[in-house]
Amino acid sequence: MKKAVVIFMGVLIFGFVACETSQESEQAPSQTPETKEETTPKATFNVEDSVKVIGKKVAMATFKALSAEVVRAIRDGGPQHAIKYCNAKANPLVDSISKSLGVKIARVSHRRRNPANSANAYERELIKKYIEQLKAGKNPEPVVLNVDTGYIFYAPIVIEKPLCLTCHGIVGRELSPELHEFIKQYYPTDSAYNFRTGDVRGLWKIFVPKEKVS
Ligand code: HEC
Repeated sequence: MKKAVVIFMGVLIFGFVACETSQESEQAPSQTPETKEETTPKATFNVEDSVKVIGKKVAMATFKALSAEVVRAIRDGGPQHAIKYCNAKANPLVDSISKSLGVKIARVSHRRRNPANSANAYERELIKKYIEQLKAGKNPEPVVLNVDTGYIFYAPIVIEKPLCLTCHGIVGRELSPELHEFIKQYYPTDSAYNFRTGDVRGLWKIFVPKEKVS
């Protein structure tokens, strides 16, 4: 994690530099710089931004690891083998990445395959909001919640790759009826199909302990 901390600090420092430069060049005549400088601390540590930097990095790393494993499993034994692999290994892999990064990573969904990944009421509302934002052409921004011992980072998981549709796409189109039946043997209450590219598939939910941020 040392490397991540260095990069993270780099982003922070760059952020401050960029911020100061733009303030200097603005020179808005209506502002009174003397009083502003007294009340505004030079370098405020914005916790929410820091959590977002960490959350995005963790989500990206987890996504890469999971995608690589799915691609490898499909190559080794086809989609059915990959389903068995995901069934046995997806959440354990996510848990081991959590441990190594000192956070707690989960993927939750309103239309989940594994019941262990069900979104709660708050998360379902957030997913609804993200779906509306995407429909309106807006960029869905991550959300940070302050909880007792740390922060929860949420960001939407949007289906971008045709690969995802092999197992989450429309039945009879991208998801073959045979594979759909096979999936039901492992996940009898599966509702993670009939998705399209651009759909919100669920959320990254990443708990970041306080001591990792301050
Ligand atoms: C080989 C089939 C396969 C492919 C390809 C695949 N998934 Fe999945 N996906 C699964 C299975 C099986 C699970 C359930 C894993 C478990 O038991 O935790 C799952 C679970 C998920 C979950 C967790 C929520 C839930 O429904 O349980 C998300 C989010 C998800 N997949 C997104 C994606 C995205 C995005 C892609 C493309 C990058 C993708 N999947 C590609 C089979 C696949």
